[in-house]
Amino acid sequence: MPPRKIIIDTDPGQDDAVAILLALASPEEIEVLGITAVAGNVPLTLTERNARIVCELAGKPDTKVFAGCDAPIARKLITAEHVHGKTGLDGPTLRDPTMPLQDRHGVDFIIDTLRRAPAGTVTLCPLGPLTNIATALDRAPDIASRIQEIVLMGGAYFEVGNITPAAEFNIHVDPEAARMVFACGAPITVMPLDVTHKALVTAPRNDAFRAMGSPVGVAVAEMTDFFERFDKEKYGNAGAPLHDPCVTAYLIQPELFTGRHINVEIETQSELTLGMTVADWWRVSGRAPNAMFMGDIDADGFFELLTNRLSRL
Ligand code: BDR
Ligand code: CA
Repeated sequence: MPPRKIIIDTDPGQDDAVAILLALASPEEIEVLGITAVAGNVPLTLTERNARIVCELAGKPDTKVFAGCDAPIARKLITAEHVHGKTGLDGPTLRDPTMPLQDRHGVDFIIDTLRRAPAGTVTLCPLGPLTNIATALDRAPDIASRIQEIVLMGGAYFEVGNITPAAEFNIHVDPEAARMVFACGAPITVMPLDVTHKALVTAPRNDAFRAMGSPVGVAVAEMTDFFERFDKEKYGNAGAPLHDPCVTAYLIQPELFTGRHINVEIETQSELTLGMTVADWWRVSGRAPNAMFMGDIDADGFFELLTNRLSRL
């Protein structure tokens, strides 16, 4: 099978960085057509820069990186420096990027790519707030039917929320965008907190990254050390969840994940539950399914895949 063509839409973020590294390390399964940065964990000027830093760390400076939207569709940006640090990639010492940022806006790149490629051959992989994807769908509704699949990290059901008691960060930051994406009609696969909170970087798993001894292995271990401090305290777990790499791991080894094809709606009105993913896990609403909502992961298999692939870089 030829590699799957994808666009990574991202707000790096240490876990975004690992997701990108995994994709760039897996050319047999994944062809990264481009990376579009969005404001999220930190402002856009940092996320587009961080995306370029990560490509250079991977030894792939030819990867096309575009800057997208710098603020949610209808709200003020909420960032997460309390988790990811001031730069978004705090932890390791990483070199300033020298590869260029592409001239075109990220949203234009998404639209043009989907229009030019044969229908059903490009997958979108959002790892941050859904602002770029929703803006593209709003400006070019014809692209919805051309998308092969949207595989995204966001939302939660049994795990409820991480930025508010009811909502996960990516969806909460731009709930209007999320609502548009979940209503667009394209096949959607969701990696919610229910899955990512089982992908914990325990000490032995982090040691395995460090033991690679390569710049990538050491950087991943140091990034994890950084955000782990916050997450371990918050959740009291044996390690921090590695959210976004679940998306790129799914493209390589989908059998690591199990879930249900269900209806998912996004709360955009209530102040209390803004950005909640109302996932009809028990199929009680009668509403038509619009997403494959994952619920479980083979965590050992996931970390084995990550370690094997990252050691190639
Ligand atoms: C999501 O929010 C961000 O902080 C992470 O990068 C991930 O995409 C987890 O809620
Ligand atoms: Ca992210």
